[in-house]
Amino acid sequence: MPKIYVDGQELSVKEGENILEACLSAGINLPYFCWHPAMGSIGSCRQCAVVQYQNEEDTDGRIVMGCMTPVTEGARFSLNANKGVEFREAVVESLMLNHPHDCPVCGEGGECHLQDMTVMVGHRDRRYTGLKNTHRNQYLGPLINHEMNRCITCYRCVRYYDDYAGGTDLSAQASHDHVYFGRHEDGVLESEFSGNLVEVCPTGVFTDKPLLKQYTRKWDLQSAPSICNGCAVGCNISPGERYGKLKRVHNRFNDDVNGYFLCDRGRFGSGYVNSSLRLDYAGLRKKNGSFQAIHQQAAVDKVARWAKGKKIAAIGSPRASLEANYLLREWAGKDNFSAGFSEHEGQVIHTISTMLSRTNALSPSIKQMEAADVVLILGEDVTNTAPRVALGLRQAIRNKAYQLAEQAGLPKWQDAAVRNLAQDQRSPMIIVSPIGTRLDDVASQLITLGIEDITQFAAAVADVVSGKHIKDVDVNAVAQLLKDAERPLIISGSSLLSDSLVKSAAVIASRLAVDNKQTMLSYCIPESNSLGVALLAEDTKSIEELIIRADKFDVLLLLENDLHRRISPDQIDQLKNSGVKLVGLDVLENETLSACDLVLPVTSYAESEGTLINSEGRAQRHYPVFEPAAERMPSWKWILELATACEHTKIVKLTHFDEIVESCADSCSLFGQLTQVAPDHKFRSHGLKISRKTHRYSGRTAISANQSVHEPLQPVDQETPLTFSMEGINLEQAASLTPFYWSPGWNSNQSLQKFQAEVDGPLSGNSSGQRLIEPKLDLDPNCLLSAPSLSKTSISDRLKIKPDESQLVPIYRVHGSDELSSYTDEIAELAGEAFVAISAAVAEQLNVVEGDGLIVSNADGDLSLEVKILNRVASDCVGYSAGYTKTNSLRAGNLVVLSRDSKWQRRMPQLIATDSGNKRPPNNIEGSAHV
Ligand code: FES
Repeated sequence: MPKIYVDGQELSVKEGENILEACLSAGINLPYFCWHPAMGSIGSCRQCAVVQYQNEEDTDGRIVMGCMTPVTEGARFSLNANKGVEFREAVVESLMLNHPHDCPVCGEGGECHLQDMTVMVGHRDRRYTGLKNTHRNQYLGPLINHEMNRCITCYRCVRYYDDYAGGTDLSAQASHDHVYFGRHEDGVLESEFSGNLVEVCPTGVFTDKPLLKQYTRKWDLQSAPSICNGCAVGCNISPGERYGKLKRVHNRFNDDVNGYFLCDRGRFGSGYVNSSLRLDYAGLRKKNGSFQAIHQQAAVDKVARWAKGKKIAAIGSPRASLEANYLLREWAGKDNFSAGFSEHEGQVIHTISTMLSRTNALSPSIKQMEAADVVLILGEDVTNTAPRVALGLRQAIRNKAYQLAEQAGLPKWQDAAVRNLAQDQRSPMIIVSPIGTRLDDVASQLITLGIEDITQFAAAVADVVSGKHIKDVDVNAVAQLLKDAERPLIISGSSLLSDSLVKSAAVIASRLAVDNKQTMLSYCIPESNSLGVALLAEDTKSIEELIIRADKFDVLLLLENDLHRRISPDQIDQLKNSGVKLVGLDVLENETLSACDLVLPVTSYAESEGTLINSEGRAQRHYPVFEPAAERMPSWKWILELATACEHTKIVKLTHFDEIVESCADSCSLFGQLTQVAPDHKFRSHGLKISRKTHRYSGRTAISANQSVHEPLQPVDQETPLTFSMEGINLEQAASLTPFYWSPGWNSNQSLQKFQAEVDGPLSGNSSGQRLIEPKLDLDPNCLLSAPSLSKTSISDRLKIKPDESQLVPIYRVHGSDELSSYTDEIAELAGEAFVAISAAVAEQLNVVEGDGLIVSNADGDLSLEVKILNRVASDCVGYSAGYTKTNSLRAGNLVVLSRDSKWQRRMPQLIATDSGNKRPPNNIEGSAHV
């Protein structure tokens, strides 16, 4: 470890880091703007200036940029030397020349890095008396607000959006003091990761637009550590609440999982928590089909009357907590419990859980995936099925650049230099898919095949990996790349509902792992706890199997599962007509609940505690951010109360959340580590609970003054180590318990570094969560994982379908395919209408253009959908919008016939909206104005 001297203080620093990183890791406050731990240095803002001395005798020194200067043994620096202090103050003063003094009305106010740095360097008085440059702002869609006048030209936005996230529609325009960061014209930002601009921008240029509509300052938010429930990646989030409304979601750093960034579904898709469709009270269905509200206790008594001593069945949920599913399984019994998947989906997810549990390859975290030097993607549009993983893969392809940089002696953090050196050279990424994907732009090879052919291709690659000879150039080339790789990564998933494909991916990885222990295998799966419930119920029934037996039961409990998304209306009718009493628990009203005899209102993830197991096999805990309104209760609590009222022998002994976790951990060896996921409710830091509210939380004594002038008692949290109060601590707790980031002098999200053991390192107190799946190092892949039949058909053989038939391929969307986030206004706006996607050649055949209508016919009937035309579609395949209500009846792999819908009414072209927050000034070009 080199030693350096900063103002006489000796520091042992990390080899290869720069002075800014060394100072921050040592707890020394050195201001900065353009440097970002995930994006490295470009030295553009000049804010991190320090004085460097040649030796002990040198008393003058010279100014260098801390973020551009590597540490070297014995190097001497000063932050306190006048020269450096004056330089840094001058930099802020120059940045503030054109910056509006609008902090009181700025969405970033109170958590602005520019505010923090201005205070840190001591800049106070504005000496400039001239005109400020002003810019016009752009409409960037429903998620991001643009206020270009606040820009300090640090370039972080375009470095993140273009260089890191692969966006192409945001750029730096113009020159010198007219540099402008925006799109070439008003319009919705195209990237699925645009929301990170809110946290990357150190001022208020890009802010959270939904938050601005119901604004609350950071210090007035109540927050809790949480896990995104938008997909199975399990990103760590910090949701903030005030007045009983979820106001926003910020990133919560997890070194292994999401790092510094979220996808837009994760950041903006929680609006459904505030939806008017939320259920507040239990509802008992009357004869006329309407529901009568009843109190919690009456609902519990009603279920006890129906279910005590009777036969119970239950359908679990891949989006509900492990604890709720576990209690339900214990109550109904393994034979009468369905994990909540349809037959086809369940088969694939269970195969994935089996493969992950048995493979000798590593189920990697995103951080590990970012280190992959060859990536093979089989049948997944990862950006839309596991978005944050795709962002990680965009970093994996840079490993070639890092390799070249190492050879040239360049540190990784020299971002511009490394990019210049590598130009377009990337690590190989091969995508084999039936339709184009959002990672196509960075793939080294695109192979377009139908669903069955992808499986054949994968099986052939597996064979070549294990030494067989196959005469196919692509197969051999891909197999060779994988064999030559140091850290090969195979990605597949459940999108195409192909059991064989999932197995083939596992066979490739397991065979590679025989010789290469760094081989990785990752699956994209749909819901936040799909893997958890599959592991919990590995030998249990599909929804359809349970429905067939429904008339044998007295009561069927349905946990957080809209069956219309999984099975046909006929099967739901069969359930309704079976005579079983249906008790539905869910967050929002949906069509399935209207068929229930009793509906119970449950809390969202933001109002409850629970454990989710992500696609990697990592168990993570989310905590309630705020107390549930009305008579909502967490699902696990409802089930605990119902089963206790029915005197279930095992559940009646459980009274506390921690006891449920312990019971679940004891139920099988795989879940043995569940109690280690996060500390139990007795945890205290410095003798105190962890506070959800900030020190500066305002109005606690007056917030309910319209109801009572007396300060209300703060809700008491008996279940967790957190408190619904500002009287607690947010310091030195386990990483899984940190509700928000703040440190004296660091009000912005950059305060995160004060919670990290070192800059860009894991959080102090370890990363949150517990991995439950580890590679089986002594596994013989050939005996445990048999490949699907490989030999009978050649790769080019197609599924034998009739000339006018096409095979359905689901197209997932970050905005629109997920159930709950679709109830968020902004997400629904971006999702648009359901669609069918075809190639240009098929469009010509059918005589349609984009925006026309096509009738999609299959055994279930006809469906009229809007046409989209894609560049890359396998022959005989047709895409459809997956997860949209209108296309619920379509299934991956089914055969359909397409015909032109001559009665289709084209939608009116959408005008670019300019909402009230972003009205153009009369003079819509850059100009000057007094501020
Ligand atoms: Fe070093 Fe910007 S942070 S120059």
